[in-house]
Amino acid sequence: MPGAYHQLLDATIGHLESLKQRGVRYVDASPESLSLLAEPAAQERTATPTSQAASTIIVQRHDEPSVYDSPKLTAADKEFAMTKLRHEALACTQCEPLVATRTQVVFGVGTVHADLMLIGEAPGLDEDKEGEPFVGAAGQLLTKIIEATGLDRDKVYIANILKCRPDTPGKIYGNRKPRPEEMETCFPWVKRQIEIIQPKVMVALGGTAVEGLLGEMPSGITRMRGNWQAYRGVPVMPTFHPSYLLRNQSWTIKRHVWEDMMQVMERLNMPISEKQRSYFQRR
Ligand code: URA
Repeated sequence: MPGAYHQLLDATIGHLESLKQRGVRYVDASPESLSLLAEPAAQERTATPTSQAASTIIVQRHDEPSVYDSPKLTAADKEFAMTKLRHEALACTQCEPLVATRTQVVFGVGTVHADLMLIGEAPGLDEDKEGEPFVGAAGQLLTKIIEATGLDRDKVYIANILKCRPDTPGKIYGNRKPRPEEMETCFPWVKRQIEIIQPKVMVALGGTAVEGLLGEMPSGITRMRGNWQAYRGVPVMPTFHPSYLLRNQSWTIKRHVWEDMMQVMERLNMPISEKQRSYFQRR
């Protein structure tokens, strides 16, 4: 995406000028923000995420420092850092087969000020077309689940482990699971998203999201769901992927997902009404 850095710079200058016109004389800018601005645009050199090249083995992620140890960003710094990251990610060309077949990079949606981040697997056909995660049938179900907690899509942040739709050579429809080397190559993007947002809680939607986040899958999603995990200090609730709910209309599976979401609500100190508690109780 040529010129993206300059677009970003222009937007920043425009914003500062409008503040000046409104009489604002000083703005808070952390050293991190200033160094981001001073840094020549990575995407204009080459779209290179910060991480090493693809490896076929998913690395363990436990050794890295807590996400909360990174310097606290101001609201404006968060917005700025995420906009910059988005520009870089949209220009990523690391996975050639995915670049060749994708319509666009599906970066993420929601607010950088979210307490809750939901992480899925990879964009499907609809997401590839729209450029937004979880907009197809599974996405509509996810939106309902989010709304059932009292939140909505604008109050959370939704992203995928893989930012491009996995290619399905020879097929027009259908999805495939991301390959370990694809997840590893793409991970730096979601890693930065998490570092910028510093969410209080994350929900990993399905086994692939758990594997992508934790770097391992100690047991299947059926055993892991409902049991808190952690990604660099951030509590992670594994639950079933909404696509699985669509394929498997079992009452018990739906109840499990709702129980997992209630654990998330409790962790976020969100109120839970009697009606919410009894959604999936058998009458
Ligand atoms: N499934 C996912 O995991 N992510 C999406 O964005 C859509 C469907």
